[in-house]
Amino acid sequence: MKIVIINGPNLNLLGTRETGIYGIQTFEDYYKHLKSDFPQVDFDYFQSNIEGELIDRVQNVGFSCDGILLNAAAYTHTSVGIGDAIKAIVAPVIEIHISNTFAREDFRHKSFITPVAKGIIIGFGLDSYRLGVESFVRS
Ligand code: DQA
Repeated sequence: MKIVIINGPNLNLLGTRETGIYGIQTFEDYYKHLKSDFPQVDFDYFQSNIEGELIDRVQNVGFSCDGILLNAAAYTHTSVGIGDAIKAIVAPVIEIHISNTFAREDFRHKSFITPVAKGIIIGFGLDSYRLGVESFVRS
């Protein structure tokens, strides 16, 4: 099973960014543990701060992998383009958020990903990614 994780803007700063909300662990450290928890999964990971690069990645992997975990970060709330890219591919996408976006500012309550996602996992810290992997592995 091939699962692709795509992270959007500012998630490269996990570990130092707003640690009260996002915690102190870097994504690289979390990803290392995630890979060892699921040795049967072929993982791929991509992060970008650039909307078009995220769209390119969704398109490039969206016809060949078994599932995508997408945390589009701030672009979740603004990007028609990423939503359209998800509609254009065949791989199922699970929308991931580290924080509970519905417990935060109103502008974070809107998502262009939710209507086109298979499901959403929100608010479990970095473990939101593990729950997403488990969902793909069990389906
Ligand atoms: C986030 C939530 C977004 O609202 C925010 O812009 C992020 C991270 C999360 O994982 O909690 O950058 O996607």
